[in-house]
Amino acid sequence: MTATIIKNGTVVTADLTYKADVKIEDGRITEIGPDLTGGTILDATGCYVMPGGIDPHVHLEMPFMGTYSADDFESGTRAALAGGTTMVVDFCLPEPGQSLLDALQRWDNKATRANCDYSFHMAVTWWGEKVFDEMKTVVQEKGINSFKHFMAYKGALMVNDDEMFASFSRCAELGAIPFVHAENGDIVAQMQEKLMAEGNVGPEAHAYSRPPSVEGEATNRAIIIADMAGAPLYVVHTSCEQAHEAIRRARQNGMRVYGEPLIQHLILDESEYANPDWDHAARRVMSPPFRNRQHQDSLWAGLASGSLQCVATDHCAFTTQQKRFGLGDFRKIPNGTGGLEDRMPLLWTHGVATGRLTMNEFVAVTSTNIAKILNIYPRKGAILVGSDADIVVWDPALTKTISAASQQSAIDYNVFEGQKVKGMPRYTLSRGLVSVEEGTIETQEGHGQFVARDPYPAVSRALSTWKELVSPRKVERSGIPASGV
Ligand code: URP
Ligand code: ZN
Ligand code: ZN
Ligand code: ZN
Repeated sequence: MTATIIKNGTVVTADLTYKADVKIEDGRITEIGPDLTGGTILDATGCYVMPGGIDPHVHLEMPFMGTYSADDFESGTRAALAGGTTMVVDFCLPEPGQSLLDALQRWDNKATRANCDYSFHMAVTWWGEKVFDEMKTVVQEKGINSFKHFMAYKGALMVNDDEMFASFSRCAELGAIPFVHAENGDIVAQMQEKLMAEGNVGPEAHAYSRPPSVEGEATNRAIIIADMAGAPLYVVHTSCEQAHEAIRRARQNGMRVYGEPLIQHLILDESEYANPDWDHAARRVMSPPFRNRQHQDSLWAGLASGSLQCVATDHCAFTTQQKRFGLGDFRKIPNGTGGLEDRMPLLWTHGVATGRLTMNEFVAVTSTNIAKILNIYPRKGAILVGSDADIVVWDPALTKTISAASQQSAIDYNVFEGQKVKGMPRYTLSRGLVSVEEGTIETQEGHGQFVARDPYPAVSRALSTWKELVSPRKVERSGIPASGV
């Protein structure tokens, strides 16, 4: 393979900004420095050369709510690359009672079409000895070090506190990290019944049924369970101040708890559900729902101050037709929105260009932080000699207006329709393969490879109360009282 040289750009990583050329051979970075020669040139004049984005939260071709999310591993990863994201992590969902390994086989098959590298989180959707046993195989033989738990979706994916404590404890033993979808599913289910009974059947009722307090409660509960189990914790789609506050407090207390705002929650607010157009509102139904401005400000502040670590999309796109399954009953609207192609340009436009985030913070929250959390740094999330050449050459002057008409996603609308972005990829490279070139998409189906992730035992130690809890001291007593009164 001939070498490629990214010339005349400014390298931007999570901690450094400097002028240098970057040389790539056989999918890896082999040299970084001034005036490199001997390869095909990609001109990066006026551009920032950054680690490609990693989206730690996507659902491609996901069986959910009686249907499948509309973007598969081909269209989903094409959308990712078009927006500067070079790796996605999907959730493998065993059906209740199903073997984790059987489910993984299905996900392996689906992912063979990926255009960029990918990995999986394994979901724990039920509990039993088989799950306990297979978790070890998943970690030690299948290269998966994260397990997802849904605290909502009662009667489907939801697990209870008992099951979470058992699973989190197993994670701690294996050097894996538990993930949670934190909403109190019992309360949500009752709120849904009540709203329906009162005739609140439209998409706005989806938001009324899952207020910030139910997310805050579940986030707190998951944090306590993780602490008791001696495990770190990753909270997906953190959307409100109550959840952010719980994460912030846990971190101040010395716990390894991570929070993940979505680009949707940062940009879009609850007023979307008041739109008189049913389709407009239903297309934006996702869990947790969009929040108000105060919650958005809290999330932005968390990203800047470091109390929240990663921006994801939870890309789970459904067509308008699929959304209409919930006409007359908001509970049947498939939950989920898209965003894979738009995450990086929107975060740059609303974050870096407004001064809310530095360029280095942008790299941290779109790539480097999650690479470290998932134990794939510096193979991913870095511009270093030896790292995979997953690179985005970012042109801060490139503009576009987001529109379904020009998107890669397979769905017929875009929740960000009409938003103007400034800052986009000039080139996106997936392990050295130029997949986006000045607006032209040249992805290669099947180019993506599974990224195996080693367990990370160090993460499961040094929590605030862990040592006391697992080493209870027995009190020696001289005698015991006689039984009876
Ligand atoms: O509404 C959402 N977020 N759909 C995808 C599944 C999940 O909860 O992450
Ligand atoms: Zn979720
Ligand atoms: Zn509309
Ligand atoms: Zn999700």
